[in-house]
Amino acid sequence: MSDRIDSLSDYFKRYEESIADPEQFWEKIAKQFHWQKPWDTVLDWDFEGPNITWFKNAKLNLTENIFEKQRFADENKIAILWEPNDPQEDSRKISYKELFERTGQFANAMLEQGVEKGDRVIIYMPMVPEAAIAMLACARIGAVHSVVFAGFSATALADRINDCSAKMVLTSDGNFRGAKKIPVKEVVDEALKHTTTISKVIVYQRTGQAVTMEAGRDVWWHDAIAGVPSENTPESMDAEDLLFILYTSGSTGKPKGVAHTTAGYMLYTYYTFRNVFQYESDDVYWCTADVGWITGHSYIVYGPLLAGATTLMFEGVPTYPDAGRFWDIIDKYKVNQFYTAPTAIRALQACGLEPLEGHSLDSIKVIGSVGEPINEEAWHWYHHHIGKGRCPLVDTWWQTETGGIMISPLAGITPNKPAHASLPLPGIQPVIVDAEGVELKGNNVEGNLCIRFPWPGMIRTTYGDHERCKNTYFSTYPGMYFTGDGVKRDHDGYLRILGRVDDVINVSGHRMGTAEVENAINEHPNVIESAVVGYPHDIKGQGIYAFAICDSKGLTDAALIAGIKDTVRDIIGPIAKPDQVQIVSGLPKTRSGKIMRRILRKVASKDISNMGDTSTLLNPEVVDEIIKGAGIQ
Ligand code: WTA
Repeated sequence: MSDRIDSLSDYFKRYEESIADPEQFWEKIAKQFHWQKPWDTVLDWDFEGPNITWFKNAKLNLTENIFEKQRFADENKIAILWEPNDPQEDSRKISYKELFERTGQFANAMLEQGVEKGDRVIIYMPMVPEAAIAMLACARIGAVHSVVFAGFSATALADRINDCSAKMVLTSDGNFRGAKKIPVKEVVDEALKHTTTISKVIVYQRTGQAVTMEAGRDVWWHDAIAGVPSENTPESMDAEDLLFILYTSGSTGKPKGVAHTTAGYMLYTYYTFRNVFQYESDDVYWCTADVGWITGHSYIVYGPLLAGATTLMFEGVPTYPDAGRFWDIIDKYKVNQFYTAPTAIRALQACGLEPLEGHSLDSIKVIGSVGEPINEEAWHWYHHHIGKGRCPLVDTWWQTETGGIMISPLAGITPNKPAHASLPLPGIQPVIVDAEGVELKGNNVEGNLCIRFPWPGMIRTTYGDHERCKNTYFSTYPGMYFTGDGVKRDHDGYLRILGRVDDVINVSGHRMGTAEVENAINEHPNVIESAVVGYPHDIKGQGIYAFAICDSKGLTDAALIAGIKDTVRDIIGPIAKPDQVQIVSGLPKTRSGKIMRRILRKVASKDISNMGDTSTLLNPEVVDEIIKGAGIQ
């Protein structure tokens, strides 16, 4: 059996098979991989624990399935194409053979620096091939990587290091981002003042800027690999050994470490990559995400490399040196599959059509979208101007927790319907429920999106706190995984994702917890209390709107607002900086003291129709003040 779906009827047939007998379905796919020892059972599970075991007691190494047992490509095939931030700088091409050697060599270097199987390694690096090499080298030796997006602050980095008691940090001297040079190593140095578990820092030289190297702790990447052989025996991993932890925001508390394990994640990213994008062996595939997010993990590194694909990595930003950069890159490398986020599409759409002039974009066969709901206007612009009306658009819905794409058209197979993620992939059993958890069957229904059966790429736990995993995802609707998203099934049975139904804001495709931003705001010395909500934003999808009660101590509102924004930037990072801050004398509260966010969301959206009954509030008078302060009346 080929695991490539090739027609709509084939999709329906396989979907039926995957529901009728999920174990047999995934076992057939698993048999195409190399295992050091086969499994006892394909799946053991309960969603109460939750306890999920795929391929019990099987042994494997994921990197063996990319390199030694490469089933799809010859060793001289290009694995990674790298385009630097500055188009004047040389690009890089790394073959599977070279990637294998570099992975083995860096794996050996990490072992020499004292990393052992099971240790956690933080990767805080720019978008250079070495970031992928670092991830693969961890997988090779059984170390658990946790990539932290290099735009996060020292505090956010320290929190993640502490949460998983990491032993090593892999980083760079600096990072090029558009016209800016970011002092990455300085951020690491600051973070490490607040951690105790890191024994070594390996520093990749990227920008050449001056850095302080702490003797005994900090080692240059080039020194760590000097003279180190590339032959490396892969560690034997259990199917359910941790592959990585990736921190993500939720509705409460600090970001949590979503834990993914080896075999299931391997199978799932490979299978979804092949089928959603319909990659063919000579294609060049480009996903514009950063490896700091799940999209970078699954669809720049693991999925494509497991499928023997050529994956393009881009270090820079879409608007540098100008707004034609994405289109330059597509033509330069003759990109066949292009996968990006709605926020990037909207930002480029706002630049007009001029940056597209002189670009053919003829090579593109498939265009994709991920990270947030794509509005119809952006969908049509993308389809028309980039896909030239001839390329299928895959609107892929999934999450850090799901490991891979869950609901999406299959390119060229599933009929496209604008702004609809469409149909579930084989093996995925979506359920729509109302607030009470009653399943809404049939078409033309809208409710909360749950998944009722395990899939191989799913979250296993939140690192160090299994209760939190249970409470966040498996308790709202017992017996089901709750996604936190709203969804509509239309008259054709196609799914349309409506966005988050919890206190998570999706800013430019990045997840931010309102509580996390509030906690940061509350660190500002003049802030007494704050509340954060999302509001519609033309480019970012959602913007962050903060209401703060302050003890001004003589400071002007302008000074307080600037100070609050800076505080959030320093504590979390620039991506969490509120777009709007409004200083208020009170927040609308129920008699039990709960903030009525519904009212704040309406004010932030500048839509004060249907405010509902505010008379039951503890302090109804504050609503008028807030509306006036927002400049609505
Ligand atoms: C949202 C990113 C609509 C959704 C892979 C989800 C989407 C959250 C889509 C996960 C899409 C992602 N259509 N919404 N195609 N893709 N989302 O963990 O709200 O960074 O719950 O994973 O992004 O974000 P995360």
